Amino acid sequence: VGNSKQTAYGAFVERWKDCKRCLLCNTRQHVVLARGKIPCDVVLVGEGPGESEDSLALPFVGPAGKLLDEILSRAVPEGVKYSLTNLVCCIPRGDDGTKTAQPPDEAIKACSPRLQQFIALCKPKLIVTVGALARDYLEQGYKYSIKVDKSIAQVTITHPSAVLRSSVAMRGLAIQRCIVVISNAIDEYVTSKR
Ligand code: URA
Repeated sequence: VGNSKQTAYGAFVERWKDCKRCLLCNTRQHVVLARGKIPCDVVLVGEGPGESEDSLALPFVGPAGKLLDEILSRAVPEGVKYSLTNLVCCIPRGDDGTKTAQPPDEAIKACSPRLQQFIALCKPKLIVTVGALARDYLEQGYKYSIKVDKSIAQVTITHPSAVLRSSVAMRGLAIQRCIVVISNAIDEYVTSKR
């Protein structure tokens, strides 16, 4: 992603880089906005930054991110552009300072204008929700409290953190399933529309 103030993405970064719309701003090191190409064909939306992401200011750069990168390298054909972001941009920490399992609803709602602006900048044909929480907030028929353009197709994959927690025997199958879901959706909603 570019960083110049002259670009639309630069203006987006300026708007959100010091965001204080929710309490997560008090315990973060960095606002973690996005990585990848803008505009793009596919936007992947996870939950929120973990420790690695909070230190490096980039989404999906820890163990789950490494697995997601491997999945994407096998699922996304050359020439198809994608970017990664999260429901929230700041690491969710509990009172004891450790990362909580999920970002709180207030933080997800407070961060939704930023997510909507990011999706509007990317103009994707497909959104991949990474994990059930992102699916619940973005997909019609679930909680669906973050409205996005209905013409953008959506599919969901198991969160790579959950894949890493599954037994070694199940892991290969779970990874294969993520690859098939993404690659089929790209065939259907991206490459066939060119
Ligand atoms: N998990 C997520 O959901 N997002 C990240 O950026 C990293 C881990």
